[in-house]
Amino acid sequence: MSTDPNLDELTRRAEAEIEAAADARALEQLRVELLGKKGRVTELLKQLGGMAPEQRKAFGERVNRVKESLAGALERKAAAVAAAELAHKLAAEAIDVSLPGRGEAVGALHPVTRTIRRVERIFASMGFETVEGPEIEDDWHNFQALNIPESHPARAMQDTFYVFNGARLLRTHTSPVQVRTMQARKPPIRIVCPGRVYRVDFDRTHSPMFHQVEGLYIAEDVGLADLKHDLQQFLSLFFEREVEALFRPSYFPFVEPGADVHMRWHAPGQEPRWLELLGCGVVHPNVLQAVGIDPERYSGYAFGMGVERLAMLRYGVDDLRLFFENDLRFLEQFK
Ligand code: FA5
Repeated sequence: MSTDPNLDELTRRAEAEIEAAADARALEQLRVELLGKKGRVTELLKQLGGMAPEQRKAFGERVNRVKESLAGALERKAAAVAAAELAHKLAAEAIDVSLPGRGEAVGALHPVTRTIRRVERIFASMGFETVEGPEIEDDWHNFQALNIPESHPARAMQDTFYVFNGARLLRTHTSPVQVRTMQARKPPIRIVCPGRVYRVDFDRTHSPMFHQVEGLYIAEDVGLADLKHDLQQFLSLFFEREVEALFRPSYFPFVEPGADVHMRWHAPGQEPRWLELLGCGVVHPNVLQAVGIDPERYSGYAFGMGVERLAMLRYGVDDLRLFFENDLRFLEQFK
């Protein structure tokens, strides 16, 4: 490009250095060193001052050509470095979409929740609406309105957790929700009330906190026959087969007559036996009176069942406590 050996040597070296520059920073440093104010090429131009006019022109042109050529080389190298850096970055960030996933665990509903939803769905198909109520109750809604006066011996049937120095209690059954609903609405009333209940009770089939679903149907001329029919229908839908149910007279202060419903249960490898499922009966006139419903005009039935008991039967679980230990190996079986 030039015939000046010094200039040739400078160009050759500069080109080699540019080619060897590893990254954008090294290149920029090189640009300053070569073409900057005090750069090697710029320094050459300062020699022009001491040259004869003819020589000055020729030398000046040569130096400018070198300058342009090196600027071009720097620019090409800069583009190449940028492309290489981008390619490296893309390679480093590449995601292999064909790799297997990390095995994220998929959660599932708790068997008690599944059972409550199943009960609600079945009763909804039979015309029952779901209603909920408070877990912290007062004595009147949990006992007195249900025809259980203070010091009534029936209170001993449900050992109660009292709170706030006895001013309130943890509801012992979901029956107070039927009381609250009857106070707030006029018949016909057809509801189911699922929820947690609490009793001082703990063994293989009893837990201090468990779940019940209360059912209530109040209208004109509703009686025992409706109760038997509707419960029989529910049980067959719930267990997906013809269920043999036995209504055995029983006592609950809030119903008259009252019954326990037992079902014929045939566990694998065992003799069939009768299992208690729920309590039920025709709502006592005193209860209707307590909530302001005329017992001469309206009548109805109520029932209350343990959700864990239903879940144990449906899923073949023999210890109620498994539902509350939340061991994933147990829970994962219900996905
Ligand atoms: C009652 O609680 C009544 N309120 C039910 C009722 C409603 C009767 C309306 C008549 C009319 P009982 O105490 O029997 O009844 O409880 C109902 C069901 O809850 C039982 O059949 C049983 O399945 C379940 N249960 C009772 N105690 C426990 C407990 N500690 N742990 C788990 N389940 C229980």
